[in-house]
Amino acid sequence: VVGIALGIIYFSRSREKAEPPLDKGIIPWLGHALEFGNDVAKFLTRMKRKHGDIFTVRVCGHYITVLLDPNSYDAVLNDAVSLDFNVHTKVLMERTFSLCLPNYSADTAWMKRRFQGPSLAKLSSTMQLHLRTLLKEEEGSCSPGEWKQAGLFSLCYSVLFRAGYLTLFGTEKSHNPTEVTAVYKAFRTFDGLLTKLARSTLKKEEKKTATLSQEKLWEMLFPAWLSNRKDSNSNSWQQSYRCHLEEQGVDPEMQKRAMLLQLWVTQGNAGPAAFWLLGFLLTHPEAMQAVREEIRGLTKLKDGSLQHHLLDTLQNCSTPVFDSVLRETLRLKAAAFITRVVVQDKILPLASGQKYRLRKGDRVCLFPFVSPQMDPEIHDEPEQFRYDRFLNTDGTEKTSFYKGGVKLQYYNMPWGAGKKACVGKAFAVSGIKQFVFIFLSRLELELCDPTATVPPVNPSRYGFGMLQPSGDLEVRYRFRT
Ligand code: HEM
Repeated sequence: VVGIALGIIYFSRSREKAEPPLDKGIIPWLGHALEFGNDVAKFLTRMKRKHGDIFTVRVCGHYITVLLDPNSYDAVLNDAVSLDFNVHTKVLMERTFSLCLPNYSADTAWMKRRFQGPSLAKLSSTMQLHLRTLLKEEEGSCSPGEWKQAGLFSLCYSVLFRAGYLTLFGTEKSHNPTEVTAVYKAFRTFDGLLTKLARSTLKKEEKKTATLSQEKLWEMLFPAWLSNRKDSNSNSWQQSYRCHLEEQGVDPEMQKRAMLLQLWVTQGNAGPAAFWLLGFLLTHPEAMQAVREEIRGLTKLKDGSLQHHLLDTLQNCSTPVFDSVLRETLRLKAAAFITRVVVQDKILPLASGQKYRLRKGDRVCLFPFVSPQMDPEIHDEPEQFRYDRFLNTDGTEKTSFYKGGVKLQYYNMPWGAGKKACVGKAFAVSGIKQFVFIFLSRLELELCDPTATVPPVNPSRYGFGMLQPSGDLEVRYRFRT
């Protein structure tokens, strides 16, 4: 016991000159792990109040320096010499997806080619086709004028997931609705356990469920025909990704696992984002009215049905109200961590003029959700949804936001920033926008309880991209005649 005690004292770290305030927590080694895992937004907000915009905390033996001053973010985002972008991602990929890829940067470059530039228009139009078909199928299952009741989160996630899955992973063989439903179900089970998988906090039974859903998804996403080289003249997104992996020397087992990573990266955020957006519109009638007016304006502009010209219309006409609603939704509900590993000691200069020393082996973490997104110095009443927060009075996009009298470059960061910013942003925005516009123009949608508000957030999802609700928001809908 004495040896352990001496060991703890000997290896215990103390704050050195020019280092950020150090808060190790009272539990040896674990440090603040419990609070960090339970509700990291609440924990970091508390730490910010205690220590200011920069501090180092201990979590499961790791020392994490958290920086919460958006005016200083560039010093982290732009440093690819002292800070490594990929080490942490690799650890998470291994822990969560049992996946090891040889060259993560090549993967991102491949994604950029497939989700930006000329490929984007093709993907967006395929997405539109699938959204329409899915809603037609749903309409076919209702009698005229029939009201249906559903949880809005499940409804949005299921429709956007299916459309996205068919766009990227669809083949003639997989257009079978039963198969798509099976993939969606297994995905939701896996997604529900993902944060625990990433934190290695699964209970025994949960571990079994996670492994089973993972294995099911590997088989469904990488069917036998896909590993058959004779089929490689197929031009599908899925086939093309497999060829890319093969060129990287990835073996078939890892190719299988990489497909699940792709499914999560491409489908895990858009459905929840669409849910919060529609949830805010339904619970803020003035916002719903403004968006509906914008949709009506577009329909008139095109002198015909929005249905047939949707994609052209959305690409060629500006939709400032919808854009502001989406920005505001993401400000409130997108909460990814931006993590880097310090690979050599670094002096971090802050906008205030102060300089801090970062130690090799530590992590640096930005959490834009706390600042700028929920920072009361930047956004007035930050916890409130205001559909026009990102609109000037003349209807143009508002881009001037200040902290301490300084105009901010980073006043909303749902997509990250710098070299590792989201490569799927344009595809995600296009999908969410199409979904919301088709939904609102084809369906009458209302809250079951007119006094309901959006459900609270599931706090364990902070740090993992789009937040998800605890519970759901019950709605009823019917197709317009
Ligand atoms: C990275 C958010 C949808 C592909 C990121 C990051 C954020 C983010 C914050 C940066 C993480 C970091 O700095 O470490 C979102 C949100 C989405 C969304 C809020 C939807 C509402 C998508 C979609 C795709 C996608 C639909 C693919 C089609 C990626 C990829 C990266 C990334 C590949 C990694 C980039 C890299 O490592 O350089 N996303 N994303 N995302 N996102 Fe998204």
